Amino acid sequence: MEEILRVEKLEKHFIKETGFLKKEKKVFKAVNDVSFHINKGETLGLVGESGCGKSTTGRMIVDLIQPTSGSIFFEGKNIADRSRDRKSQLEIRKNIQMIFQDSYASLDPRLTAGQAVEEALDIHRIVTGKKEKREYIEKIFADVGLQKEQIDRYPHEFSGGQRQRIGIARAICLQPKIIICDEPVSALDVSIQAQIINNMEEIQKKYGISYLFISHDLSVVKHISDRVIVMYLGYIFEEASKEELFARPLHPYTRALVEATPSTNPDLPKRNKPALKNEIDTSLIGVCCPFANRCDSVSDICWKQEPSVTEAADGHKVRCHLYK
Ligand SMILES: Nc1ncnc2c1ncn2[C@@H]1O[C@H](COP(=O)(O)OP(=O)(O)OP(=O)(O)O)[C@@H](O)[C@H]1O
Ligand SMILES: [Mg+2]
Repeated sequence: MEEILRVEKLEKHFIKETGFLKKEKKVFKAVNDVSFHINKGETLGLVGESGCGKSTTGRMIVDLIQPTSGSIFFEGKNIADRSRDRKSQLEIRKNIQMIFQDSYASLDPRLTAGQAVEEALDIHRIVTGKKEKREYIEKIFADVGLQKEQIDRYPHEFSGGQRQRIGIARAICLQPKIIICDEPVSALDVSIQAQIINNMEEIQKKYGISYLFISHDLSVVKHISDRVIVMYLGYIFEEASKEELFARPLHPYTRALVEATPSTNPDLPKRNKPALKNEIDTSLIGVCCPFANRCDSVSDICWKQEPSVTEAADGHKVRCHLYK
């Protein structure tokens, strides 16, 4: 399989203002030692609880946030420092697109759906000429399941699911190689979620685009992904093919997540696993295993030392002291 994107040891430290009158400054390590790759035409699912650093990771890849350290290789070239000329910057932006959860906020209310797509086309000069552009936009609208009559309507005239389709149209009209999908269906009803996901799968098949699919919902990730990475407090805890991750979750955190996911098979008994003990503790970041306070397999070493990554089986990686 041909690799299209690789991130190595990616880190993001934010300065958080805390204390009385926000006068104290504290470094918060939101993304820590994150490494993974995405192959051509595949979907890599990125799952984890709220605040674990999923969006920050995605935003660093599309250049909305500057990494503190680490590398991002796109087609073999490091794009993390972005100290390149405008032409190659534009080229990277065209190739790595993003879809956001909040489709309403990501669209300009003054532009029609067609103009929103046209704006992207104009920046990147994908198609020129009035007639050619109209035809191209009609084709893209058909790809995302919108009617050509809807091209001249404004965002408020669409439903949430349809607005998300405009967001997808805006991304795919540039013929990108990767789309970072940041919770693209999390705000939608379950039935609409399924329609959008099916549409995204059709688009992937047609154009061979790779997806980094970010979600806190393991059942959505299970449906769409080829491989999955599991994140916790900025660290990747586990990486495996979808089949392997759900059949043999290794990390105690992944196991808890998988056991808490409702089964889609009505013949299987309903799982009633209690939620994880304790709350997320950010003070453990960089000190020991950040999951030590919630883990049911915790031992002495977990409180003393940060775990490193082990390849437990081919392509199945885990960051846990149990697998040294
Ligand atoms: N600009 C910022 N300044 C300071 N802290 C930030 C900033 N952006 C994000 N953070 C912090 O970094 C951590 C990771 O945030 P991020 O948005 O990446 O999480 P997430 O996994 O996408 O969560 P969610 O599922 O809620 O979208 C959080 O603790 C967040 O408060
Ligand atoms: Mg997020």
